[in-house]
Amino acid sequence: MVDLSADLGFIKLKNPVIPASGTFGYGEEFQTFFDLDILGAFVLKGIYKNPRPGNIPPRLHETAAGLLNSIGLAGPGAEELVNIIKRVAGITHTPVVVNVCGEDDEEYLEVAQIFDALDEVAMLELNISCPNVRAGGKCPAQDGQHTYRLVKLIKQNTVKPLIVKLSPNVKDIVSIALSAEEAGADALSLVNAYLGLAVNLKSRAPVFRNVFAGLSGPAIKPLALKLVYEVARQVAVPVIGIGGITCGGDVLEFILAGASAVQTGTVNMVEPAASVRILHEIETQMQELQIKNLEEIRGELKI
Ligand code: FUM
Repeated sequence: MVDLSADLGFIKLKNPVIPASGTFGYGEEFQTFFDLDILGAFVLKGIYKNPRPGNIPPRLHETAAGLLNSIGLAGPGAEELVNIIKRVAGITHTPVVVNVCGEDDEEYLEVAQIFDALDEVAMLELNISCPNVRAGGKCPAQDGQHTYRLVKLIKQNTVKPLIVKLSPNVKDIVSIALSAEEAGADALSLVNAYLGLAVNLKSRAPVFRNVFAGLSGPAIKPLALKLVYEVARQVAVPVIGIGGITCGGDVLEFILAGASAVQTGTVNMVEPAASVRILHEIETQMQELQIKNLEEIRGELKI
């Protein structure tokens, strides 16, 4: 028997597998594939105060071992998401995480407070790293001072645990991570998608109207693993690793690099029941490698 539980300090999850925002709808879409209760937690698609249509298509473009997306944080708005969450709470006991978005700091706060007040929500994830909503892929997570100011504002005005989702599109992710931690983040999730470019040879134009889009999937796994390793060694708060995870072995690699849990992304779009397989693989690999629990190997990469 192995212990799959993942300890984030402020919450103990039954296992480390958390489908990531934007790859798992609002959870309920996946209940025909498996019982949501098997998950450690799951993160809902990012939400603003008002409904948003998102970016003009195309929004997705496959690459070798990856996927470029330019969804533009489409969503039904906070009021409708409250209804959805109440429905989802009726089908699972798994902790639900709301991915909080905003056009400006005031909107971030307003959205965070709406879901902070909802019993059915376990944690908030502050999305300061979407590459698809501002020109050139700019986002608050590229600026340490803005990250600090925004995280502090949310922490001072909410009570639920706050995960801050970081961008890989920065020169020094460790300094941004430290700003978020200093401002009161309870955990960090990293990384959001890498900025990438796809070209249409016929039109000689970019595939996406925004020119750049967010690259995810196995192509980014080694890059994400590096950043998780670098950040986890420097911060005291738990790190949730994200980036191209497709199998149980990948999860254990992120734990060795210092993550306390992981988010799975693109794999959920390719294989909706991937979580079932990944959980089975984690258990099998832990048995084979004689790992009794995840804490035993967390951050234990031998350098
Ligand atoms: O375009 C999008 O909706 C992507 C969101 C994100 O990466 O946070």
